[in-house]
Amino acid sequence: MDYMLAALDEATAGADPLAFFSTWFGEAEKAQITEINAMTLATADAQGRPHARIVLLKGLDDRGFVFFTNYDSAKGADIAANPQVALLFFWKELERQVRIEGTIEQVPASESDSYFLSRPRGSMLGAWASPQSREIPHRNILDTNYSRYEQEFSGIDIVRPPHWGGYIVVPNRIEFWQGRSSRMHDRILFTGNGDGTWRKSRLAP
Ligand SMILES: Cc1cc2nc3c(=O)[nH]c(=O)nc-3n(C[C@H](O)[C@H](O)[C@H](O)COP(=O)(O)O)c2cc1C
Repeated sequence: MDYMLAALDEATAGADPLAFFSTWFGEAEKAQITEINAMTLATADAQGRPHARIVLLKGLDDRGFVFFTNYDSAKGADIAANPQVALLFFWKELERQVRIEGTIEQVPASESDSYFLSRPRGSMLGAWASPQSREIPHRNILDTNYSRYEQEFSGIDIVRPPHWGGYIVVPNRIEFWQGRSSRMHDRILFTGNGDGTWRKSRLAP
């Protein structure tokens, strides 16, 4: 594959990588790419072994990148042991990759509540019914759990399970990669200075 679509230079990337991420995200939306908010989340467990899986980006603000999950999941245990994580986006139609590294923390409970309550009832029940990442003897357990919670919450508002909520990844490194011809790709890296400002550099492809 020879990448021919675009180039990326220091001036275009600007001074604020979160703002530039929003620009690229908007361009991916305009290009009608499906699941542009699917990102690989890499964590490491207490032994330092890496684990990766896809989660969906559900919020982006000045601080960082938000997704929602089960706090008692395998990823939740990794995060409790080691708050250093990485995120990865690949938008192949635009020949772009974004690598994000930083620290992760739970979002305030009020934020998790608002997002949880915005979800379809079936997804809310699913959050109660699935002990994410646990071994289960067979599929039926999920259906049994689901029906149990359906009954429990019948005719009343479903509340957020305490084990379910959001995390925010606060970045300290963000690299924008634009594919170029002959493997001479553009890589612009932002490294946080720790005071809200960023150092920008170019890496060899
Ligand atoms: C497209 C896609 C989107 C997903 N989005 C989420 C998500 O937002 N939150 C989540 O907990 N799991 C999501 N998953 C499932 C995770 O990849 C993973 O199976 C699950 O979170 C359990 O991971 P863990 O056992 O490492 O904790 C998604 C999977 C795919 C393929």
